[in-house]
Amino acid sequence: MEKIIYQRFSIRYQYPVYFTRNLFCQDNTALKDFLGKNTVPSVKKILLIVDEGVVNHFPKLADNIRAYIETIPGITLVDSFMFIQGGESAKNDLSSFDKIVESINEYGIDRHSFVVAIGGGAVLDLVGYVAAVTHRGIRHIRIPTTVLSQNDSGVGIKNGINYFGKKNFLGTFSPPSAVFNDSCFLNTLDDRNWRSGMAEAVKVSLIKDARFFQWLEEQADNLIHRDEVAMENLVYSCASLHLHHIASGDPFETGSSRPLDFGHWSAHKLEQLTHFSLLHGEAVAIGIALDTIYSQIIGWLRQEEMYRILSLLKKLQFKLYHSLLEEAALMDGITEFREHLGGELTIMLLKGIGKGENVHTINKNIVKDCIQTLKTYEINNSSNAKTSFVL
Ligand SMILES: NC(=O)c1ccc[n+]([C@@H]2O[C@H](COP(=O)([O-])OP(=O)(O)OC[C@H]3O[C@@H](n4cnc5c(N)ncnc54)[C@H](O)[C@@H]3O)[C@@H](O)[C@H]2O)c1
Ligand SMILES: [Zn+2]
Repeated sequence: MEKIIYQRFSIRYQYPVYFTRNLFCQDNTALKDFLGKNTVPSVKKILLIVDEGVVNHFPKLADNIRAYIETIPGITLVDSFMFIQGGESAKNDLSSFDKIVESINEYGIDRHSFVVAIGGGAVLDLVGYVAAVTHRGIRHIRIPTTVLSQNDSGVGIKNGINYFGKKNFLGTFSPPSAVFNDSCFLNTLDDRNWRSGMAEAVKVSLIKDARFFQWLEEQADNLIHRDEVAMENLVYSCASLHLHHIASGDPFETGSSRPLDFGHWSAHKLEQLTHFSLLHGEAVAIGIALDTIYSQIIGWLRQEEMYRILSLLKKLQFKLYHSLLEEAALMDGITEFREHLGGELTIMLLKGIGKGENVHTINKNIVKDCIQTLKTYEINNSSNAKTSFVL
């Protein structure tokens, strides 16, 4: 006899994203209050994993954290902090993955403990992945320290590492327990990393919010001159658009559409082709420019809208052309983008500023035309470009 039992349950996810300053100052109670509320009768352990790029700029960070955590009843910090080299190497080099798994084992970190990651998007992606797969899921807290991780990657639910040289080939969807965005960390970023994360703000404004795009145009000068308040506002608006999209759309990406990956099909491929010498946000700026021109060529976007977008990217001092765009392998980015999600090829383009719409085919000849347009645009508008990668 054939029998079927249909299993069904749903889980509600909820996590706070704090926007604060001086997180580890004794009188900042955000983290204390969160941890205090989340302790069970048994003492909880915390394993802290820190991006070396952060520690280099904040030598007293470890002492400050220790002093801060000591005051929280029911929480113990394991003896040593772990330091991981920041940047894409964290996701490329499997030995970082192994090192964290070994520490989880050594210190007896269990599902009632917390793994806390402090760092840029790459370190957070790595630690989030380890936390998700070890003991089938250890709670983890993210403390993002770059513009990109505070406004995009660190507030969402995805993690991952690169494999076969492919971006995020291994990874999971795993909501964090909490996210703490401390804007003070941003002050020590170099100019490239300060700028890079702004590409994701331009991206989300283009597909979701024309008013935010206009605000970016108005604030471009302040942003590029490292105005902290302008950056705090950018991070807050961009993070809230991302969070709203995740909650209202398809958080676990079971469909074929990935609107938040507008501009990313070529960006991911370019990052790989440049062996990650191009930062994620720098590649995304080029990807946005490419798909913007494509949207104009197919008649979806008005020419003046296209120029507004390219001009904002230039005001933010992004370079919009890279010679590797002309490699035949760039087009593999389309297949790899589809394969990553499965299902039908779905790429978001623009119907206007603030309005994205999906297409299911990409014409390679039009892409080639876009690249030539971009090359000419870059040559004609490169006077204020400040980047250190080689064309
Ligand atoms: N999970 C997601 O949903 C998602 C979304 C977008 C991007 N990402 C990933 O995020 C990664 C990029 O992250 P990123 O842009 O934050 O760069 P990053 O993590 O590569 O860090 C860049 C550099 O900045 C250093 N650094 C970090 N914080 C610093 C600070 N406060 N002061 C000085 N230096 C500091 C790091 O050590 C590193 O050298 C990519 O791997 C990308 O694929 C993930
Ligand atoms: Zn991105």
